Amino acid sequence: MRFKPELIKGMAKTAHPYGCRKEVLNQIEYCKKAKQFNGPKKALIIGASSGFGLATRISLAFGGAKADTIGVSFETGFTDRRTGTAGWYNNIFFKEFAEKEGLIAKNFIGDAFSYEVKANVIDYIKKEFGKIDLLIYSLAAPRRKDPKTGKIYDSTLKTTSEAFSGPTIDIEKDELITTKINLATEEEIEATKKVMGGEDWKDWCELLLQNDCLSDKAITIAYSYIGSPRTYKIYKEGTIGGAKRHLENSALEIDKEWKNKINGKAFVSVNKALVTKASAFIPSFSLYAAILYKVMKEKGLHENCIMQTQRMFNEKVYSINPAEFDEAGRLRMDDWELREDIQSEVNDLWEKITPDNFKTLSDYEGYKEEFMQLNGFEINGVNYEEDIDIEILKNLEP
Ligand code: NAI
Repeated sequence: MRFKPELIKGMAKTAHPYGCRKEVLNQIEYCKKAKQFNGPKKALIIGASSGFGLATRISLAFGGAKADTIGVSFETGFTDRRTGTAGWYNNIFFKEFAEKEGLIAKNFIGDAFSYEVKANVIDYIKKEFGKIDLLIYSLAAPRRKDPKTGKIYDSTLKTTSEAFSGPTIDIEKDELITTKINLATEEEIEATKKVMGGEDWKDWCELLLQNDCLSDKAITIAYSYIGSPRTYKIYKEGTIGGAKRHLENSALEIDKEWKNKINGKAFVSVNKALVTKASAFIPSFSLYAAILYKVMKEKGLHENCIMQTQRMFNEKVYSINPAEFDEAGRLRMDDWELREDIQSEVNDLWEKITPDNFKTLSDYEGYKEEFMQLNGFEINGVNYEEDIDIEILKNLEP
């Protein structure tokens, strides 16, 4: 069988298994050559199969610390109806490469919000893996079933001030279109907080603590985003921004608890705008990111997920110089994105963008290429004409 890209509304319907393998390998090679860091020996990553979570896992295993890792993610393999998600293959191939180097790489596939997955992970930590030095919370989920009540909450991408209309890129048709975002109801604001806020992160933190699964001075980091005024209406001042503030407040509560109990630390890292499975879906964000890519690449400051996580660990979190936090206790990996010169050029370009010139005034090509690569396509060294034996794929174990 041949695997071809299929896009629908900012989402990829297919992924190329061996393209994903090559992409994991490319990230590993980047980390091996990058400045190394001494870091945690045992890490748990919630949301480990793609984007920032996968990059974090690769940095921890191959960027100096040689960490054993547990990855939790929600992915599906090859079935009669689907060819398997990119994250499914990323998990499998990360494990293959990590085990070759003698590292433990355990994958849990399931709903991280559920009691069942939490219990299975904790059981494994207690019986086999050993105490955790670092917990990363990198979930981007569309919905959550509250395990206490069974109620399902859907996360929405809406504004909270006033309805908004603005340009966005249709990645399927390669067109700049106008999108309209409605004002969220109170219920939608609360539901998005339930899914993308800090409640579940806090549950994980409490359970790990109660079950004596954390080493002394353990750290936990969750990923957040703020962005530029260009995207405030939909992001910072939208439903998702409200959820991120909840996540940031949860960091302060967890920090207090972990400091008291294990001399540990909890904080949020505010990362750079990057194309990932989750972010490609956010209205207007795609145009902002494509312009930002152009400006940051021209200045030699562009970073993808793996560059961000490697810099975060070696220059900030596990550097010999203590990491600096902002006034709200957040680590700022968006420091380069929000530089005045960068934002001013992004603004200038944004003003000039039209449906006819957006491909040349932004780095749409680079943005789309990264998007395709997330799904294993457009990667050098992969033979896309090769027939893939699906029986082999069906037997791959995460
Ligand atoms: P992604 O879509 O690449 O990764 C999301 C991960 O969550 C995947 O591993 C997926 O399997 C997992 N997941 C989703 N639902 C799950 C569930 N119910 N149970 C277990 N695993 C589940 O997304 P991305 O962009 O890497 O996002 C990770 C975090 O980084 C999010 O909190 C996001 O807000 C944050 N972030 C993203 C930025 C961006 O530009 N992409 C910028 C700054 C922060």
